[in-house]
Amino acid sequence: MEVPEFLTQRASVRAYRPDPIPEAHVDAMLAAAQQAPTDASAQLYSILRVKDRKLRAELAELSGGQKHVLEAAEFFVPLADVYRTRRLLAHRGESLGAFPRTALHFALLDAALAGAHLAVAAEAMGYGICWIGGLLNRVDEVTRLLELPEGVLPISGITVGVPAERPAPRPRLPRRTVVHTDRYRRYTEEELEEAYKAMAPITKSGDWLKVLRRYFAKGGAMEARDAVYGRAKALAGFADDLGPEAARTLFLRDIEAGSLGEAIGWLLKHGWRGVLFSESEVWIEQETEAHRGEGKTPGEALARAVETAYPNEG
Ligand SMILES: Cc1cc2nc3c(=O)[nH]c(=O)nc-3n(C[C@H](O)[C@H](O)[C@H](O)COP(=O)(O)O)c2cc1C
Repeated sequence: MEVPEFLTQRASVRAYRPDPIPEAHVDAMLAAAQQAPTDASAQLYSILRVKDRKLRAELAELSGGQKHVLEAAEFFVPLADVYRTRRLLAHRGESLGAFPRTALHFALLDAALAGAHLAVAAEAMGYGICWIGGLLNRVDEVTRLLELPEGVLPISGITVGVPAERPAPRPRLPRRTVVHTDRYRRYTEEELEEAYKAMAPITKSGDWLKVLRRYFAKGGAMEARDAVYGRAKALAGFADDLGPEAARTLFLRDIEAGSLGEAIGWLLKHGWRGVLFSESEVWIEQETEAHRGEGKTPGEALARAVETAYPNEG
């Protein structure tokens, strides 16, 4: 038995012909996405198909000016989504439990699996695809543009179209570097060197470190995205210690925080001398004033104190 060539020889496609994709093919891809496994049959995801050209252009720009986002026949945005589940429960008189961490985990998984199945189905039909993580550069703006409700977060984009290029498959790490047996095996320095050697052809310079550094090292693209993502996550209701309403209160006052810790950090950096917590209340103080907030969670209490400290904003 052999794995089909479209899987073993696949590569992301970033140049597309202008040809549209027949609606029946789009439908087949979406059917494949829907048939993906999903935790407890909950389907904690949605797929947003972007048809509006102006919106597409804005998303291409927000993704760092990636022209394939604009040129591909289709652009999909898989969404982690617990909004619908909340609505389904409410529709029958139940309410969604409080499990923001696990909700995010399984919603991201469901969205990624549905997206992956859509992409693989498209490739099986001979189309080219490219995931667009660049969409997370400004996930806050993307959320606003797509009018995503609380409980919904974009995970990435996916371009699909008739390929205008046939890129060679890109290298991968040696299998023994990514596959462990029974126990996780730490890496020797030699194995790390081997990994760099295997991945070298990915850049013209032959140095994979350049790519790793650009994205993942200190000062790289991932660090730049992280605070924006943290805020979007809190506003969507997926933060551990800051409910979506508290996050909105802070956000409307330009307090850039995606967690209670970040909110405290911001206040201490902006002239507040102390942030004092007791079980259900908070005082924020500086030399001449103090503000008290009360709430069911420390995040909520802090947001109430911030509202009295900054009454006119928002
Ligand atoms: C989550 C995710 C985000 C990605 N983001 C982008 C992107 O913003 N732009 C792009 O051109 N390629 C993007 N890619 C494609 C990767 O660069 C590509 O999959 C990787 O280099 C391996 O190459 P291959 O898919 O051709 O095997 C992304 C892929 C994934 C899975």
